[in-house]
Amino acid sequence: MTQSIKWHYPDDFIDQFVCGNAVDTMKDIPDGSVDLVVTSPPYNLKNSTGNGMRNGRGGKWSNAALINGYSHYDDNIPYNEYVNWQRDCLTEMLRVIPDEGAIFYNHKWRVQAGLLQDRHDIVSDLPVRQIIIWKRKGGINFNPGYFLPTYEVIYLIAKSKFKLAKKANAHGDIWEFGQETKNKHPAPFPVALIERIISSTNAKIVLDPFMGSGTTALAAKNLERQFIGIDISPEYCEMAKERLNNPQSVIKVKDTSQKIEQPSLFDDRVVEQ
Ligand SMILES: C[S@@+](CC[C@H](N)C(=O)[O-])C[C@H]1O[C@@H](n2cnc3c(N)ncnc32)[C@H](O)[C@@H]1O
Repeated sequence: MTQSIKWHYPDDFIDQFVCGNAVDTMKDIPDGSVDLVVTSPPYNLKNSTGNGMRNGRGGKWSNAALINGYSHYDDNIPYNEYVNWQRDCLTEMLRVIPDEGAIFYNHKWRVQAGLLQDRHDIVSDLPVRQIIIWKRKGGINFNPGYFLPTYEVIYLIAKSKFKLAKKANAHGDIWEFGQETKNKHPAPFPVALIERIISSTNAKIVLDPFMGSGTTALAAKNLERQFIGIDISPEYCEMAKERLNNPQSVIKVKDTSQKIEQPSLFDDRVVEQ
């Protein structure tokens, strides 16, 4: 994807939401100039062999909000293309952090065609230092072939001189945070999870190249750190901007017209296919 807009660092970036493509936009950030990256990319959810999202049409959840997906991205590309894209993103993220920097990269392992699809294709050859388990609440498992998955992973990808903040190493590597269900964005982070990550570091500037509703920015602001937010969707960039002044603005209004409650896209991370 090409991008004609050129962004200027730091004015266009620091404490700003930049509406653009993650890889191209990061190219305008100089080497080593952000301390920490915290992000959750689209999971390519609609490229699925399962019943929950089969062929991107929705299968068992055909009426679900998740079929609407993201406002400006379909989340359904061939697997190899997806892996290459994510590797390109991570290459840029690694470039923009210094030797003391780190990336917290959230993803989900899933079963595809009966076999575990972990994310080693994406992170192989990268300096993965630790895998943090984000233990979430249970969901619904349609598949009789395996147990209900209840966690996502957060890869701590660290450059050689990265150190945690004082006393943060007392946290274990299994973190229990319930999923965020009230946010209008289809796949938001819980704020407390991101506050745990940022407060565990001494980072002054935190980048999220898939910022969505601005959770990383809000957590950074709450902890008096600076942020850079990138998202391809103008709608989410607006949502994130408004959220900083009014955190309640992202709360979704309950749809009372639906008799049966349908899961959001975020729930699909738990609903097994
Ligand atoms: C999992 S969501 C992130 C949600 C975010 N963590 C939050 O708390 O709201 C992934 C985001 O990536 C964005 N996105 C998809 N493709 C993109 C691209 N090429 N460049 C930048 N953002 C993209 C989507 O619009 C979506 O908001």
